Amino acid sequence: METKIGKDILHAVALLREEEVVALPTETVYGLAGNAFSDVALAKIFEAKNRPADDPLIVHVKDKQQVQQLVTEISPIAEKLMEAFWPGPLTILFPKHFSVPSLCTSGLPYVAIRQPQHPMFREVLSRCGFPLAAPSANPFGYVSPTTAAHVADQLNGRIPYVLEGGPCRVGIESTLVRIDGKTIFILRSGGISPEEIKSVLPECEVVIAKDGQIKIGSGRHYAPYKPIVLTHDPEGYVLRYPQKRIGVISLNDPPEEHHGIWKKLGDASTLELAAQHLYAVIRELDQSDVECIVAELFPDHGIGIALNDRLERAAEKR
Ligand code: TXA
Ligand code: MG
Repeated sequence: METKIGKDILHAVALLREEEVVALPTETVYGLAGNAFSDVALAKIFEAKNRPADDPLIVHVKDKQQVQQLVTEISPIAEKLMEAFWPGPLTILFPKHFSVPSLCTSGLPYVAIRQPQHPMFREVLSRCGFPLAAPSANPFGYVSPTTAAHVADQLNGRIPYVLEGGPCRVGIESTLVRIDGKTIFILRSGGISPEEIKSVLPECEVVIAKDGQIKIGSGRHYAPYKPIVLTHDPEGYVLRYPQKRIGVISLNDPPEEHHGIWKKLGDASTLELAAQHLYAVIRELDQSDVECIVAELFPDHGIGIALNDRLERAAEKR
């Protein structure tokens, strides 16, 4: 199969209507979309990504009304979250309606839903009429794509079309939450920070689910092929291994002695900018001649929480 890249929204819609899969831009990362009601399209998504069937997909909707056909109940807290953060990088778990294929939710009784913000994705959704299931458009376990070229690089020959929508504005996946009474569990940190959620719902407790508690997925994820090491002191690390060519991701400037590759991702006051570029920089270092990647941990607040979460998962042993 030949993979084409282009800006033809009507072509993307035509393919999706034929139960094909298409890579689409969202404000977080590029997604690999297919009709959420079609078992044929859903199976193609899992196959193209090499994704295990027990890892469920997020369903993307055109508006709040479309949620009603997918769920059995919308709690007042869910209403408030949708009102505050949609369209945008927040995914909410709802009790699923039986019409949602169990392939989509991997047999779970909950369906994950969000309304994306990217104008091209929104136009595709409104023209299709059906909701779109879409995981990140990368081979299972690898770093998510934030440009159309990243997608084509890795899924070339496996999907028919990539809709080109420019680099992703947020650069990191959506925040995934489950509501339980007055507690909001963050199952995956992402583009909406715990502080932002708390400010909209001060009466709720916002809990970041820790490993083993409710955290979804296990093992190495969001990961480059090269080893990745996390540290609070990248300068100390490179000085300890002067013979090695090391790729560094940091918010600070390199020491003079460094002869590897040093990627400065803005500074601590611009974590949004760091989020935009983190995945592209990891890919670039992964494809360069460095022997390993050393990443400096981000300040643990705002979107820094999500960035550290991704780095920690990428650094897990295979
Ligand atoms: O920003 C995003 O969320 C991007 C864009 C394309 O929308 N999508 C994305 O999808 O990151 P994916 O499949 O790469 O990650 C979704 C995560 C997975 O870890 C999956 O296990 C979890 O959400 N998930 C999806 N449905 C779920 C469900 N019903 N229950 C629990 N976890 C779920
Ligand atoms: Mg993913």
